[in-house]
Amino acid sequence: SASEKGAYEHYMLKEIDEQPAVMRKLATEYFDENGNIKIEADLLKAIEASDRIYIVAAGTSYHAGLVGHELFEKLAKIPTEVHVSSEFGYNMPLLSEKPFFIYLTQSGETADSRQVLVQTNEMGYPSLTITNVPNSTLSREASYTLLLHAGPEIAVASTKAYTAQIAVEAILAKKLGEERGIEAAKDFDIHLELAKVANAMQTMVDEKHEIEELAEKNLKTTRNAFYIGRSIDYDTAIEAALKLKEVSYVQTEGFASGELKHGTIALIEEGTPVIAIITDEKTAAHTRSNVQEVIARGANVITIVSRSLSNAGDQIVLPDVHPLLTPLVSIVPAQLLAYYTSKQRGYDVDKPRNLAKSVTVE
Ligand code: G6P
Repeated sequence: SASEKGAYEHYMLKEIDEQPAVMRKLATEYFDENGNIKIEADLLKAIEASDRIYIVAAGTSYHAGLVGHELFEKLAKIPTEVHVSSEFGYNMPLLSEKPFFIYLTQSGETADSRQVLVQTNEMGYPSLTITNVPNSTLSREASYTLLLHAGPEIAVASTKAYTAQIAVEAILAKKLGEERGIEAAKDFDIHLELAKVANAMQTMVDEKHEIEELAEKNLKTTRNAFYIGRSIDYDTAIEAALKLKEVSYVQTEGFASGELKHGTIALIEEGTPVIAIITDEKTAAHTRSNVQEVIARGANVITIVSRSLSNAGDQIVLPDVHPLLTPLVSIVPAQLLAYYTSKQRGYDVDKPRNLAKSVTVE
C-alpha cells in the first residue's frame, strides 16, 4: 500500500535506501555486547566437520553465493562451490566426502532450491538455510537457519536481501575462520567493517540524483549494455547486469573483463554502454586497460571505482571499504542505475513483466 511505501514512489527505491539500516541491524542481531559473533555452536561444528561447502541458490541469491564463495575460501579457508539450484538438482556433481549445504533464498520458498534440499536431506547431509523469512519451507526443512533481518522485500528485483545475504555470509565466514585460526579472519574486524559499509552505502544512496542523470544519459534509450569486472568485481558485474535486465528490459550481460577480447568485444559499437566495476586492487589496472579498449571502439563508459583506485574522470566513486566487502557497496549504484532506467522508460519498476517475487514451481 501507499502508506507502507511512505514517501517512495516504488518499493525498489525504498529497499535500496534501506540497505545501510539493514547492515546496522545485522551488526546488532549477530553480535553480543562485547562485539563477539553470535552463531549457534552446533551450526559452526557441523560446518567445521565438513570438507566442502556447497552453496545452492537461484537468481540474485545465486549471485550472493558467488561472493560467499570468496568469503568462505578467503576468511575460513574452506573449499566452496556455488551452484544454480535448477542445474544442480537434476545433474548433481560428484560430491566430496563430507559436504555441507548452504541454501541462500530470500523467500525460503523457491521450488528449484527446495528440490535440492529434499535430495540432500535424503542423502543425510547437514544444511543451513540463509533466508529473510523465518519458518519458510527451506528454513523448516534445513538443519539450521540464519536470518537476513532485512524486513519484507516487496519489489520483485531483489536489492536489500542480496546485500544482507552477503553480510551474513561474511559474518559466518569470519566466525568460522576465527575458530579455525585463519589469520585473514583474525585480522578482520567485521563489526567495524560493516559499520563502514553502512556509511559507504549511505554515501551512494545520497548520490542517487547524479546516478539518475547517468542513467538518463547512458542507458535510457539503449538496446543493450555490458557490465565488466574482474575477480570479486566480476561477481558484482553479473548481479548488476541482472538488475538492469530484469527491471529495464535492456539486454545486459556481466562479463569477466579479461574475456572481452575473446569474443564479447565484437559487440561494442559507437554508443554501446559499458559499465566497469573496479574495486579490486590486484585487477584494477587490467580492467582499466579494457576500459580503454572499449572506449577506442566507441563505447559509452561509466566507471564505478573505489576511491583509493580512482582517477579524475571516473563517474561513480565509492568510499573505500574492506576489499572483501566491496560488493556490498559497488552494487548500490548499479541498483540505482537499474531503478532509474526502468522508471525513465515508464516501466512497472516493482513488478517487471513475466517475473514473480518467489517462484514455487520448478
Ligand atoms: C525469483 C525472483 C528473484 C530471486 C529468485 C530467487 O526469480 O524474481 O529476484 O532472486 O526468485 O528467490 P529466492 O527467494 O530463493 O532468493
